Amino acid sequence: MSQGQTRAMESPQLPILLLALGVLLQLCSCSPPADTAVCTNGTSNCTVTNTYGSYTDRTICHAANITYPRTEEELVAAVAAATSAKRKLKVATKHAHSVPKLSCPGGHEGTIISTARLNRTVHIDAAKRLITVESGMVLRDFIAAAAAAGLALPNAPYFYGLSIGGLLATGAHGSSMWGKGGAVHEYVVGIRIVTPASASRGFAMVRELGVDDPDLDAAKVSLGVLGVISQVTFALEPLLKRSLTFVKRDDSDFAAQVAQWGLLHEFADLTWHPREGKVMYRQDDRVDVSTPGNGLSDLLIFRASPTEMLITARAAEEMMQTKNSTDTARCAAANLQASTLEQQAYGFTNDGVSFTGYPVVGYHHRIQASGTCINSPEDGLLTSCAWDPRINGSFYYNSGFSVPLSKASALVADMQKIRDLNPDKFCTGIDGRLGMVIRYVRASSAYLGKPEDYVDLDVIYYRSHAYGISRLYADVVDEIEQMALNKYGGVPHWGKNRDFAFDGAIAKYPNANKFLLVKDRYDPDGLFSSEWSDQVLGINGSPNIIKKGCAIEGLCVCSHDSHCAPEQGYFCRPGKVYREARVCSFIKE
Ligand SMILES: Cc1cc2nc3c(=O)[nH]c(=O)nc-3n(C[C@H](O)[C@H](O)[C@H](O)COP(=O)(O)OP(=O)(O)OC[C@H]3O[C@@H](n4cnc5c(N)ncnc54)[C@H](O)[C@@H]3O)c2cc1C
Ligand SMILES: *[C@@H]1O[C@H](CO)[C@@H](O)[C@H](O)[C@H]1NC(C)=O
Ligand SMILES: *[C@@H]1O[C@H](CO)[C@@H](O)[C@H](O)[C@H]1NC(C)=O
Ligand SMILES: *[C@@H]1O[C@H](CO)[C@@H](O)[C@H](O)[C@H]1NC(C)=O
Ligand SMILES: *[C@@H]1O[C@H](CO)[C@@H](O)[C@H](O)[C@H]1NC(C)=O
Ligand SMILES: *[C@@H]1O[C@H](CO)[C@@H](O)[C@H](O)[C@H]1NC(C)=O
Ligand SMILES: *[C@@H]1O[C@H](CO)[C@@H](O)[C@H](O)[C@H]1NC(C)=O
Repeated sequence: MSQGQTRAMESPQLPILLLALGVLLQLCSCSPPADTAVCTNGTSNCTVTNTYGSYTDRTICHAANITYPRTEEELVAAVAAATSAKRKLKVATKHAHSVPKLSCPGGHEGTIISTARLNRTVHIDAAKRLITVESGMVLRDFIAAAAAAGLALPNAPYFYGLSIGGLLATGAHGSSMWGKGGAVHEYVVGIRIVTPASASRGFAMVRELGVDDPDLDAAKVSLGVLGVISQVTFALEPLLKRSLTFVKRDDSDFAAQVAQWGLLHEFADLTWHPREGKVMYRQDDRVDVSTPGNGLSDLLIFRASPTEMLITARAAEEMMQTKNSTDTARCAAANLQASTLEQQAYGFTNDGVSFTGYPVVGYHHRIQASGTCINSPEDGLLTSCAWDPRINGSFYYNSGFSVPLSKASALVADMQKIRDLNPDKFCTGIDGRLGMVIRYVRASSAYLGKPEDYVDLDVIYYRSHAYGISRLYADVVDEIEQMALNKYGGVPHWGKNRDFAFDGAIAKYPNANKFLLVKDRYDPDGLFSSEWSDQVLGINGSPNIIKKGCAIEGLCVCSHDSHCAPEQGYFCRPGKVYREARVCSFIKE
């Protein structure tokens, strides 16, 4: 089974579209993205944005100042100072990877509390398999610290640049239907959180939430509105090994498989390539630790890419969006990209150096997550993470939404109907990027976690640099998103998506009221809340922004042609399979 030796190294025309995604085939030194909070006067007069340099509404936020506590004491002092002055507060991480406006303090004159310097391991109890870390620790360092003590976090997001506080706040996950499942918050057994308090208590207090404290179910997935999480304790497992193989199959039984695959393999996921009519099944299971193999995940999509290539690739992608390109060319580019990634085994290697064939066997902590584009020092922007906003490179939307496992087969059958109407449309939207990645997340007791077992669907797709510019074949992705959310009871990933996906989302959480009661107790003045969090939590207003072009931007679902781009030929029309959807369609179809 040793087909795909790193063959793309030899293919000279390697290629433009591949790069649209920022995939590069060599490892190089690289620069991390800019810190997302920038101040003009020391630590005051600041702006904050996300890692893409642009929230869903294309704005950035302003804050009066920023503080970088190094200890829990300094954290308490920062919260107390703001509380006594009734000033808005928000926790920001160094890189703020969430797509929506989660890292903005309310108003324009709030204070940002950065967790960048809260990055230490506090305590490890190897015998009890417990680890306590500060909340600003990056997942990469957390995984490494645990492994050094012989411990493993059973499941994690695939990108290790995220912080513990941020990934918990948004309910981030990897993939598993086994045990406690794919979401990281399922492994949390304790949280220390700093919240506002009354004057008599000094305006701030540390709340220590143990495993039996019902408030832990609020704090585990909090959208950052309860206070600042200082430390988190996780219950881990002994170091383990796993064995991974990708198996590509025709998508004729995909609807049945989506409900089954996660039950068959502990770390299963699937990637659908709609135009190609194939599903890539990740067959990934725990094996005995004595099994030979020292495999490594260093996913191509999370490696640093030379800036020049990212810019060239973006230009190619822009061209693909126009009539200068044909569906045939777009689909050829999409196929080339998929097969190149496949031949490169996506960046997995058997020994940390080269890929010699499946299975890739190795330690869990070397395989569960990657992200080498964050690792190296500044190199003057010769290379960067693909999404770095300082260059005109890859710029995209990322939608992640989950539907109950019980409804996944029906959703897949409906998506296939949309595909069958005109498969070529998917070459730009889904096949042309990474395909649709499908992962498993189990039911959670967390109030803003998944109320039952869910499958998570994830897509990235073209985003224009300017407001209101139509996306080619936007209608198929828009119809799928609305169908998942509205017909199949889906919920958006808290840290991804465009605005419309959050409209009404909170009503799908049976324990939302319990969450809001805890919020009222912890932060009665809503200092940690912002306009965005109030809209998303159904407290005040709607996340939708209704204006010209809003549906092109995903700020609304269209109800009028002007919400699309009639001057570019895009009008508001019903979905083709899910007739209740309202999507921006190119009129000549
Ligand atoms: C390249 C990439 C890959 C990704 N891969 C995955 C994946 O595989 N699976 C997945 O589920 N998601 C994934 N995500 C999305 C990611 O999970 C979310 O965007 C996540 O929230 C980002 O974490 P962050 O540390 O950057 O937090 P931020 O985006 O900075 O913050 C998110 C929220 O958490 C709050 N917060 C942060 N720290 C604290 C704290 N200490 N106390 C209280 N509140 C806090 C912030 O105020 C904010 O509201 C990915 C994102 C990117 C960019
Ligand atoms: C810059 O910040 C300092 C406080 O740190 C303040 O005294 C000073 O007035 C600020 N400068 C301007 C131009 O606002
Ligand atoms: C504050 O920052 C803005 C840019 O964000 C800048 O234009 C302005 O001059 C700054 N003001 C001070 C007092 O530094
Ligand atoms: C932030 O600004 C406010 C209002 O100007 C001020 O009271 C507070 O002390 C400042 N905090 C920090 C950490 O600079
Ligand atoms: C932790 O943060 C400090 C201060 O920002 C930094 O110097 C140090 O390198 C960080 N540690 C790690 C492991 O990133
Ligand atoms: C498409 O072609 C036209 C001329 O035919 C050219 O002006 C335009 O710049 C091209 N667009 C892109 C994105 O290449
Ligand atoms: C990106 O492109 C835009 C317009 O195409 C240009 O105005 C801007 O200066 C470019 N930015 C960088 C960092 O090159």
